[in-house]
Amino acid sequence: MSAVVVVGAQWGDEGKGKVVDLYAPYAELVVRYAGGANAGHTLVVNGEKLILHLIPSGILHEQTKCVVGQGTVIDPAVFLEEIEALSARRVATDGRLLVSQRAHVVLPHHKLIDGLREKKSNEAIGTTKRGIGPCYEDKVARRGVRMGDLLDIEVLRGKLDANLESWRPVAEDLGGTLPSAEEVAAQYAALGEALRRYIGDAAAIVRASIRAEEKILLEGAQGTMLDIDNGTYPFVTSSNAVAGGACAGAGIGPTHIRRAVGIAKAYTTRVGGGPFPTELEDETGQLLRDAGAEYGSTTGRPRRCGWLDLVALRHAVTVNGLGELAITKLDVLSAVDAIMLCVAYELDGERLDYPPYERLEAVQPIYETLEGWDEDLSGCRTRADLPAAAQAYLARIEQEVGCPIGVVSVGPDREDTADLQDPFGA
Ligand code: IMP
Repeated sequence: MSAVVVVGAQWGDEGKGKVVDLYAPYAELVVRYAGGANAGHTLVVNGEKLILHLIPSGILHEQTKCVVGQGTVIDPAVFLEEIEALSARRVATDGRLLVSQRAHVVLPHHKLIDGLREKKSNEAIGTTKRGIGPCYEDKVARRGVRMGDLLDIEVLRGKLDANLESWRPVAEDLGGTLPSAEEVAAQYAALGEALRRYIGDAAAIVRASIRAEEKILLEGAQGTMLDIDNGTYPFVTSSNAVAGGACAGAGIGPTHIRRAVGIAKAYTTRVGGGPFPTELEDETGQLLRDAGAEYGSTTGRPRRCGWLDLVALRHAVTVNGLGELAITKLDVLSAVDAIMLCVAYELDGERLDYPPYERLEAVQPIYETLEGWDEDLSGCRTRADLPAAAQAYLARIEQEVGCPIGVVSVGPDREDTADLQDPFGA
């Protein structure tokens, strides 16, 4: 059992990038297993910020190989830009980065249709408009274009012809015009050529890594509450963000997974539409947004902010089989006085410990009020260094959700971390 999954335990943006960056030195291989350029993993190294949308956050560690698995959807232009951005920072990618030939390609019309639907709909999901939904639709409808197809322009043109035909009525209905297969084939074959040495048999790398008993880190994107099956449907993304998604998305059996670590902020944020029971649409919400710099790393949208929702977190512990939680941005809570913790919901006079199937927008959070703290936490390196009120807050979370907390992040930089331990350890 050599693999550890890092999964978002809320609505995304939990700080998975930072945790993967911290865990990567313990791993030989990092595999991203779901989502696409809708994700934005922010890394801060020596005060310098780098945002990766597709390439695993492990790439900054020279000894670590990185694979983008078959469960992802790839915008090849974004992938190329990231390779170039890394190269400008003298991070070598040659020979240590591979994207699965089976990963599906996000095409220009996927982005066009995603955007047009958002504009037209009264009940917009608030997607990132990166073409994620339409690309996964093609995958499930078995008419998708895969990364391997970019390497042969004849194959690519044939697949694009059929693919574009199926979207034509949809685009017309939305008032959009699709490009020709010729045009897209020329553009995407050129991208394929530029990426040729990075496209290959990711499954073979994962297989060899398992055989060699290497340590594998499986990097999730988005979060449990945005998962297509376990999240707040239909206000979700189009993939399996949960730990179970790592098996299909990376091509690894569940028996190889040693542990799932759930990443959760010390409060809650959400971008886009959909119910959010603990949302604060007041000054405290704004305080959290300002103190936590809660603006989307992919779209720049202000994130909705609220108190920590232990109902959602309890659900994440269950559906991901979490053995450990990593709590991020605990330092941000120094900005508020008293802290509210949602321990359950009430719906029609009934107490709920887990999210209901529907009507999440109608639940009333049941809160406990905890004492706050105002010390700067950035220098804390163990839990014992934290103010007593912060320690009590973490202990209450553990008690309520039934999962121990390991790493605690107390600032954006790598160094601003308490209780970092080898995730592959006992
Ligand atoms: P899509 O994934 O672009 O289709 O967007 C579907 C929903 O997931 C929207 O509410 C997005 O805001 C949300 N979403 C997608 N990716 C992320 C992410 O990386 N962080 C936070 N929210 C995300």
